[in-house]
Amino acid sequence: MTSVMRSCGGDARGGCRFLSCDILGGRKASAAHRKRSPTSRSGFAVRTGTRGAVCRGAAQCDAASSHGDVESPTTSRRMLLSKSATASAAMALLAAISPQAFWPALAESSTLRSLTPEELDDVRKTVKSAIPQAKAPAVIRLAFHDAGTYDRRTRTGGANGTIRNELERPESIGLKRGIKAVEAAIAKSPNVLSQVSFADAVQLCAAACIELLTPDDALATSRVLDAMRVGRVDAPIDASDPTGRMPSEKAGATELARVFDEQYGFDENRMVVLSGAHTVGAKGFGDGFTFDNAYYQVLLAKPWVGGDDMAQMIGLASDKSLADYARVRPLIEKYANDGLAWSRDFVDAFRAMSELGC
Ligand code: HEM
Repeated sequence: MTSVMRSCGGDARGGCRFLSCDILGGRKASAAHRKRSPTSRSGFAVRTGTRGAVCRGAAQCDAASSHGDVESPTTSRRMLLSKSATASAAMALLAAISPQAFWPALAESSTLRSLTPEELDDVRKTVKSAIPQAKAPAVIRLAFHDAGTYDRRTRTGGANGTIRNELERPESIGLKRGIKAVEAAIAKSPNVLSQVSFADAVQLCAAACIELLTPDDALATSRVLDAMRVGRVDAPIDASDPTGRMPSEKAGATELARVFDEQYGFDENRMVVLSGAHTVGAKGFGDGFTFDNAYYQVLLAKPWVGGDDMAQMIGLASDKSLADYARVRPLIEKYANDGLAWSRDFVDAFRAMSELGC
């Protein structure tokens, strides 16, 4: 049975699309997924894709329980086992032929597009009026936590809005205020934020928050929203991504690099660029609310080495390990001396991060 469920690629409109799924063909699957799918936010230009709320398999979606909801109570265990065996064989065959057939929903990619100047203006104004500066760092971090569950090897997770169901995880401490801020912006939005997917709204709000915290107009991060695109597809409303995918704050540089490479396909440079987001927040890299290259200057200064108790509190273990990672030292020196170069690279890296899994 489990293998049948894992193979489900059902969607809200058409039933399960996996060949051997035992609720293939529509009515039952449709009912099950309607129960579990996010409310459609239709009527906005960004919903150009043909998909509704798409179930991306058991790793992302709780299709197992959905299917359980619609199984006939009279279905015999033997029948299920026999169907399961058939399904397993078909799955093995499909997996051998094509990994995309194994993860059917991912065969279709999101249709991403840039925002118009009017839409950019709308998002900027909404976020400025709805999200106080004090909550902006939590929103930026929220965007990383929604996208950072991506695993390119299975093509699961990513920027799909599941972060709202992952707030009780240990790595999510402090993110509830980020979610509340995004929800406030959506509620206040006359146009874009209330009409795009939740996953889009998280990433757009984060980009607008980065702009809010970038006081220097010369830095590229003061216009990071311009680089953003919309069209991410939300996972079912109560789905969550697999646990254990976010990099640990206790990780050393090589472990961080492994996660960024294996899961995201990002090289060490991009990892260092993105880590510069820690310039804001309470870890002491700057004033906490100014999005600039202070992070790299503090990494070079290493105040925690031989410093007092207060100095020891600066930075996470993962940040400190970057400071000691010889391979990225030239890049840290470059960004410490050239905030403009970092801000340009950050915009590029943040857009890529925001589209993980899309
Ligand atoms: C490299 C791996 C990363 C690890 C291990 C990590 C871990 C953490 C942790 C544990 C905190 C909470 C610190 C505290 O107690 O105050 C934090 C804060 C933060 N992180 Fe990361 N992070 C990583 C990468 C990123 C990335 C890629 C971004 C965004 C692009 C980001 C954005 C933030 C922000 C903005 C904060 C401050 C949040 C606030 O003050 O509410 N982090 N990070």
